[in-house]
Amino acid sequence: MLTLIDTHAHLIDERYRRDRKEVIARARSSGVVQMVNVGYDLDSSRRCVALAGEYDFIYAAVGVHPHDAARAPENYLDELRELARGPKVVAIGETGLDYYRNLSPRAEQQRVFREQLALARELALPVIIHDREAHADLLAILKQDGLSSAGGVMHCFSGSWEMAEECLRLGFYISIAGVVTYPQSTRLKNIAAQVPDERLLVETDCPYLTPEPWRGKRNEPSYVRCVVEHIAVLRGATAQELALLTARNARRLFGLPPAVLA
Ligand code: NI
Repeated sequence: MLTLIDTHAHLIDERYRRDRKEVIARARSSGVVQMVNVGYDLDSSRRCVALAGEYDFIYAAVGVHPHDAARAPENYLDELRELARGPKVVAIGETGLDYYRNLSPRAEQQRVFREQLALARELALPVIIHDREAHADLLAILKQDGLSSAGGVMHCFSGSWEMAEECLRLGFYISIAGVVTYPQSTRLKNIAAQVPDERLLVETDCPYLTPEPWRGKRNEPSYVRCVVEHIAVLRGATAQELALLTARNARRLFGLPPAVLA
């Protein structure tokens, strides 16, 4: 069996309300030894922390997504700082910029992103970054403000190889989601094949972006195996090798302890 770490899941989503326990059990029995559940606003961040408190192998990230930037209450940073003190909180995020859907005005997205970058620097926690169609502004902000000493990850990477190279130079990890399994994702497949061994992560971003062969169904952490198997082929590696490599990277970035196998 593979040793897998899903570095980006949203199991607090309403879509798991009825069978969250079963989904988590299925992840365990599929080899998922650790996972990070990621918040997108204050409420979801609190629920991620609570879920991490219930399961040894589940960790949390707390943050405000660019979609939710305009709705963040005035004191949201204090709330995040407080939540981030929890022993199972391993990152700030997800945060970033989304100019594809523009659900919050761009100026608000940028402000909330910069404030969270500063919080990550203050707490020396890694950042989980969401970037959609905002590559130039995102890189400009990162270069100007600076990254946390703990680094960060470009989650569900969707840019060009040039963008990936810039992110690698800044010290980022590149995380690949199930989109890589779709036949039309030629550019992403090339990127997944080229990211240096020590900077590659895998994720599901569940309940979204379900990999083949489950595309169209609700996504879940156990499907991270499909992402690993697909990328292994692209890199000429075995699934076992790729699983170990990405798990090692995830532990390094998020400071996770060695996993205890069930
Ligand atoms: Ni996400």
